[in-house]
Amino acid sequence: MSVSRETALRFERLRIEHIGPLLDIDAEAYPDPWTFGMFQQEITNRSSHFFVAFAEDSVAGYGGFWLVADEAHITKVTVVAPLRGLGYGREIMAHLLEMGATLGATVARLEVRESNSRARTLYERLGFEATGVRHGYYARCPEAALVMTRNLAGKAELETGLTE
Ligand SMILES: CC(C)(COP(=O)(O)OP(=O)(O)OC[C@H]1O[C@@H](n2cnc3c(N)ncnc32)[C@H](O)[C@@H]1OP(=O)(O)O)[C@@H](O)C(=O)NCCC(=O)NCCS
Repeated sequence: MSVSRETALRFERLRIEHIGPLLDIDAEAYPDPWTFGMFQQEITNRSSHFFVAFAEDSVAGYGGFWLVADEAHITKVTVVAPLRGLGYGREIMAHLLEMGATLGATVARLEVRESNSRARTLYERLGFEATGVRHGYYARCPEAALVMTRNLAGKAELETGLTE
């Protein structure tokens, strides 16, 4: 991984007091940002495992997944704009995949905008493959969503995939 930075991330489960700052980050990062209520649902939804990543005391990013049967469905992964390209996205994804595998998921799945080449590269480097296309997936964006999937079977395989 071509990354140069000194701070490892610290993860906390999403709490209500985290949500305010995440709204601004989400508004910058997405054409269809989440509302306060949508983040709040990630706290109350028992299928949701949603984390805020801190570099020292500042929010560096956040991400989560829903555990549905044996699938970890990644709902979001975001790095604050000034810290993109430093490997934090990969570190957040690694945390989500490890948590998913620990909780019994055997497969991870997500949707990504076709034009989002940075995110697609990140997922491909982590072993995800395109497995489908969903047209009309985004409410406020005419683009199709690419569905990407990776196997989580076996902790050893997961660790190999994450250290490539
Ligand atoms: C997508 C996102 C989470 C990636 O996080 P990041 O911290 O910038 O990514 P990383 O630094 O961990 O880079 C991951 C990989 O992408 C590659 N990459 C970095 N910048 C890139 C770019 N501009 N274009 C293509 N690939 C790029 C890196 O080479 C890296 O691969 P490597 O680790 O094998 O070298 C972040 O850019 C982001 O928050 N974007 C806005 C929100 C978003 O689009 N989220 C995804 C929704 S599906």
